[in-house]
Amino acid sequence: MNNFVFYSPTEFVFGRNTEQQVGALARKHGAHKVMIVYGGGSVVRSGLLDRVKQALQTAGITYCELGGIQPNPVDTKVYEGISLCRAEQADMMLAVGGGSVIDTAKAIAAGVPYNGDFWDFYIGKAQVTQALKVGVVLTIPAAGSEGSGNTVITKLDGLQKLSLRVPEHLRPVFSIMNPELTFTLPSYQTACGVADMMAHIMERYFTNTQEVEVADRMCEGVLKAIITEAPKAINHPTDYGARANLMWAGMVAHNGTCGVGCEEDWASHFLEHEISALYNVTHGAGLAVIFPAWMTWMAEHHVDKIAQYAIRVWDVPVSDDKKAVAMEGIRRLRDFFHSLGLPLTFSELGVEQPDIDRLTESLHRNKGERVGNYVKLTRQDSREIFQLAL
Ligand code: NZQ
Ligand code: ZN
Repeated sequence: MNNFVFYSPTEFVFGRNTEQQVGALARKHGAHKVMIVYGGGSVVRSGLLDRVKQALQTAGITYCELGGIQPNPVDTKVYEGISLCRAEQADMMLAVGGGSVIDTAKAIAAGVPYNGDFWDFYIGKAQVTQALKVGVVLTIPAAGSEGSGNTVITKLDGLQKLSLRVPEHLRPVFSIMNPELTFTLPSYQTACGVADMMAHIMERYFTNTQEVEVADRMCEGVLKAIITEAPKAINHPTDYGARANLMWAGMVAHNGTCGVGCEEDWASHFLEHEISALYNVTHGAGLAVIFPAWMTWMAEHHVDKIAQYAIRVWDVPVSDDKKAVAMEGIRRLRDFFHSLGLPLTFSELGVEQPDIDRLTESLHRNKGERVGNYVKLTRQDSREIFQLAL
């Protein structure tokens, strides 16, 4: 096991009606005026936005609003938010939504006190040394941004989708997680969220670090719980237990718990970010296509942990033929994704003729000559993985 620091100070407030506490929580964490950030309208239709405003008013917190954040959030909304936040002198960001909304709120939080272009942080030109606090009311278990120090933004000019990781400044100070808020999620969004949270665990699980039995078993356990709960939530959208387990799984998948002491991989995410940047597909759907392709390539080049995953997560019988074991595990993963209504190929994703040259070039321009850690992928390797997803 590698040395590590694990520090995850977010205050999670979980359960029915917990959004009523948002005003008190904002005040407890020092807010006087919050900027509410939300998406394309689901929180308006569900009445959540009104309930949040009411709770803020009751606590004596004033607010301004930035709505209309789109999935795969873009830089132009961040610039708009930074200007608005400065003009309104808001002192805390309050994200009411999913990963796209939370990531935009984090980007604004970092950008407001910075005397330069916030994009500098994403391209490594500047470091985040201070940020406004971020609070969250989560409406979709998927990206795990409610417990992570990460934000992912796409620069519209050039379609460059980049992630920034600053846990010491960008981890939310509180996250309200009411599973009932996810009852309105369409089954496709639920399924995409499931693929994303599974991917967050698998990026950590596929490691070369030895003697990480606790991390391995946590990953396997949470994956098995997701595999059990996801069909229940899709078949019965108001199944509180299933929604609650998925909501907590999405957080545990990405706040660092599952990867402590491991060198993590993340190649599949970087491959996917190129796809969602160029074709604006849902991140989780892109992962359902690319992760099994990555695993298939690994079954050929570095099979050990893929075989272990097949045996322990998918109950594939042990055999000396590790590649056959690994391939059966991948088949079961694909069958599971398919049963949830997720795409398995570029064409099912709606991308009939992906520009693999452009995807590969952009990936290595953004992430360097070698991508990932389980096997450090060259351009040729990345190209082969994209081709396996055709
Ligand atoms: O915009 P509205 O109208 O709110 O609708 C949203 C959106 O269309 C809808 N939705 C959310 N909650 C709902 C709901 N519809 C009905 N009922 C509800 N309760 O769902 C759609 C997707 O929302 P979005 O926020 O985009 O989903 P998600 O949480 O999957 O976030 C995806 C973004 O997060 C990034 C992805 O790349 C992508 O840009 N990621 C962020 C990470 C992080 N910050 O740590 C890590 C991830 O790996 C990921 O890359
Ligand atoms: Zn993800």
